Amino acid sequence: MSVTVRVPAKVNVQLAVGAARPDGFHDLANVFLAVGLYDEVTVTPSPDGLRVTCEGPDAGQVPLDRTNLAARAALLLAERYGRDTDVHIHIAKDIPVAGGMAGGSADGAGALLACDTLWGTGAPRAELLDICAELGSDVPFSLVGGAALGTGRGEKLTALEVGGTFHWVFAMAARGLSTPAVFREFDRLAQGRDIPGPVASQDLLAALAKGDPHALAATVSNDLQPAALSLFPQLADTLAAGRAAGALTALVSGSGPTTAFLAPDAEAAATVADALRASGTCRTVRTAPGPAPGATVV
Ligand code: C5P
Repeated sequence: MSVTVRVPAKVNVQLAVGAARPDGFHDLANVFLAVGLYDEVTVTPSPDGLRVTCEGPDAGQVPLDRTNLAARAALLLAERYGRDTDVHIHIAKDIPVAGGMAGGSADGAGALLACDTLWGTGAPRAELLDICAELGSDVPFSLVGGAALGTGRGEKLTALEVGGTFHWVFAMAARGLSTPAVFREFDRLAQGRDIPGPVASQDLLAALAKGDPHALAATVSNDLQPAALSLFPQLADTLAAGRAAGALTALVSGSGPTTAFLAPDAEAAATVADALRASGTCRTVRTAPGPAPGATVV
């Protein structure tokens, strides 16, 4: 008997970052949109105890020890419910690793829901969300999917209405970026400046609710983008190539280095994707619609 859970990637259509807090985290106004690129997490009872395996193009970069968020999710749930963590967790990875698309968070949320189902734990949704927040700032959103405003360090979620499907293109970079390193660079670049408290853009929320890609393109923003570009200047070439190919807007996804391009429709997204592939400025290119559902048992 095994349980498989499918979990989406995310793009941040707004990432407003406040000053560093005493605990080292940053207060955010983080507008998450789940997109149709998925990891699949399968859990199977294992007589040899907790074991993690991974397949996919980036599998070699995924840690298979207890630092993996999927393993940590199983351990946290088992601890709270007095279970043994005798499971084999297999991750079929399609979300880029260290890419700014919450791939590790997706695996944490996926393993949590999969173990909860396998063990028949019956944990209330609020308890699962609480464990997700303990695992990482983006993990609660991976569980719920759709679109949401994340406040606090991004873990306090309010669901958002989305009035249509947005067509995205994602360009994966040749190497990853460390999220803490990007936040540190944000702090360095912010030195001596007054950082206002992060606030969600009402125009952006209205664009999402309307399902209007032109209005959304006019309002997206990412306060981590200058920091990501400072650490990875070549990303500017990828952004320029997507814009030149007709993307309505181009931005770094979260802490990067994946770059995201919004197209007016699926056909235009395919054109932008082809141009990005031909540009030689990135490793791989994918198209994906958003919003996508959150972690789901398949
Ligand atoms: O919560 P998570 O483990 O994903 O965060 C990874 C790192 O990203 C943190 O250790 C911190 O350096 C940075 N971070 C932050 N502010 C946030 C979220 C993450 O500074 N709101």
